[in-house]
Order: sequence, then structure tokens, then C-alpha cells
Amino acid sequence: QHDKLALPVGTTLDRFIMRKQEDFPYATGELSQLLRDIALAAKIVNREINRSGLIDIAGAYGNRNVQGEDQQKLDVIANIRFIRALRNGGEVCTIISEEDEEVIQTGNVQGKYIVAIDPLDGSSNIDVNVSIGTIFSIYRRVSPTGTEGTMADCLQTGTNQVAAGYVIYGSSTMMVYTTGNGVNGFTYEPSLGEFFLSHPEIITPKSGAVYSINEGSSESFSSGMSGFVAQCKQDGFSARYIGSLVADFHRNLLKGGIYIYPPTSKSPNGKLRLMYECNPLAFIVEQAGGKSSNGYTRTMEIRPDDMHARCPLFIGSKELVEKAEQFLAQEQ
Ligand code: AHG
Ligand code: MN
Ligand code: MN
Ligand code: MN
Repeated sequence: QHDKLALPVGTTLDRFIMRKQEDFPYATGELSQLLRDIALAAKIVNREINRSGLIDIAGAYGNRNVQGEDQQKLDVIANIRFIRALRNGGEVCTIISEEDEEVIQTGNVQGKYIVAIDPLDGSSNIDVNVSIGTIFSIYRRVSPTGTEGTMADCLQTGTNQVAAGYVIYGSSTMMVYTTGNGVNGFTYEPSLGEFFLSHPEIITPKSGAVYSINEGSSESFSSGMSGFVAQCKQDGFSARYIGSLVADFHRNLLKGGIYIYPPTSKSPNGKLRLMYECNPLAFIVEQAGGKSSNGYTRTMEIRPDDMHARCPLFIGSKELVEKAEQFLAQEQ
């Protein structure tokens, strides 16, 4: 019987997944295989991103997605790569993607899992060489196998997630994920094609001195929102906003801080999508000791009414999210 201690830094992702699977005697290995499939797609997308300046895959694709956003070529390429890896892996029956209006049926009707994915987050940063990411969420299907996934399979609350994670394509490429037993970060070594455990058992600081919000929208902030931002300034906080949710979230997860995408005049329910941006990061931050809400309700308890539903996001250090919630609660 292996010791229960955390695996040493330097363990490969494959070995980590296998070892953690042994902690679940009844595990059949399908979720482990699914995580490996995601890591494979991340390696492929990482290579495309690193070459995007050299071959003509940067820039706009000339299509609009269901969000009304101009799709970038890498949005589309990442979407194709992740869908292909999940389809070929065989474990996923149905996919929700930011880049597809309808659910994607993979044909794996025996697949037990549903994946919600933001294949490339931070699209506005792709061709200016600023960090971008991928965000994913994994659910067990609720309908019987042997058929296509249903909307009931797809519109589950975040509390039903069996796993969630993100890839950050930054100064180094990392994969950070949870299966509900803590959060672990893996750094990619391109020359070896492997992810290695570099950030075991991530715990986010319970407070911090960083706030991340697009103050360009401050004209439309509520009085409570404006009050909280003013308080951050009075407390001498640093303003850090990269415009890539994954990059802003990852920095705050490690250093402490709060990321907010509030309701704005342009996006009355906030811009971020519940299923493949808010919920996966909420699962991760709670597993790391932090907090996530829409300012009033725990993110993972918000009932999705649509696969592309948007919701405001207040996420990060527990004390900062609670302080922001107090400002919202006190507003008249
Ligand atoms: P995506 O590129 O997947 O559409 O997400 C972009 C999101 C998020 O990454 C980022 O924090 C936010 O959009 C930035 O929005 P604003 O430019 O409105 O601040
Ligand atoms: Mn996104
Ligand atoms: Mn995206
Ligand atoms: Mn987008």
C-alpha cells in the first residue's frame, strides 16, 4: 500500500493520475483516461499557440460565435483539437463549448462523462502574445448510457462537477485541476512532452491585496460595487487586470486577491459564462480554500437555465469575496 503522503514534486501527470486513481478502489479508470485526453489536447494546442506568430493562424477567423464575438483562428483551432481529443478518447458522450451554439454529441453513447469547455480563454490577447488559457469542467451523465447526452446531463449545477481545471499558456504552460480532493498544478516541459507536478496541494491565501476588475466599466458599477473598489484603493491594493480570466485567476490563486466580472451596461449579467468559466474556477478556488459567488449566491449553486448562461463572478480569497458581498448587501 503506497504511503498517503503527497507525491513528490517532479512526478509526471500520468503517474500522478494513476497514483490518485489507486486511492479510489472502485475507480474504473475512465476519469483518469479523460484527464489524460485533456492533457494531450493541451499539449497540441500549446504547440499551435507557440507557432501562431509564424504560421497564419493568428488573427480573426472571420466568423462570429454564439456569443456575438469575432472568433479568432486559435479559438476555432483549440475547439477542434479539444473536441477531437475528447471524441477519440471515448469517455465523453456530450460536450458544451463556448464556440458551439448547440451541444456536441461525440457519438460515444457509452461515455459516462459530459465536458463543458472554454477552449481558448482570453481571445483578445492571442495575437499580442499575452497569456491565454483553456478552462474545463467534467460532469457524470445523469441519463442512462447507450443514448446521446440530454440537456439534463448538460445543465447540472456546479456542485455536481466531478473534476475541473484549466491550462494556462503563459511564460510556462501549466495544467491546474481538482477532482474534489485538493488542487494540484503541473508545469509542462516541451522538450520532454510531459507535465510535471510543480505546485502540489495549492491553498489560496485567505486574504490578499490585489483586485482584478475592468474599471473601464466603472460608470455602470452599482453603488456597492463602487464602494468596494474605493475601499480596495483606500486599503492600498494593487490593481492587476490582464484581460485573460485564466491568467488573472491563476495569479490571484497563488498570491491572494479577488477577480470580479460584475454586471455592466454592456453585460447586465456579467460577461463570463457559468458552465465553462465560472463553475470550473469556482470548484478549484473552493478546493483551494477560497470563495466564489455572483455577489449573492455561491457560484456552484446557481441553476443553469441555458448552456451559455452568463453570471457575475466574484472569485478568490475568501475574506475579499466576503467583503465585496458585504458591500453589495449594504447597498440601498
Ligand atoms: P473569452 O476569450 O473566452 O471569450 O473570455 C474572455 C473573458 C476573460 O478571459 C477576460 O477576463 C474577460 O473576457 C475580459 O473581458 P473585458 O475585456 O470585458 O474586460
Ligand atoms: Mn473565456
Ligand atoms: Mn474562449
Ligand atoms: Mn470568447
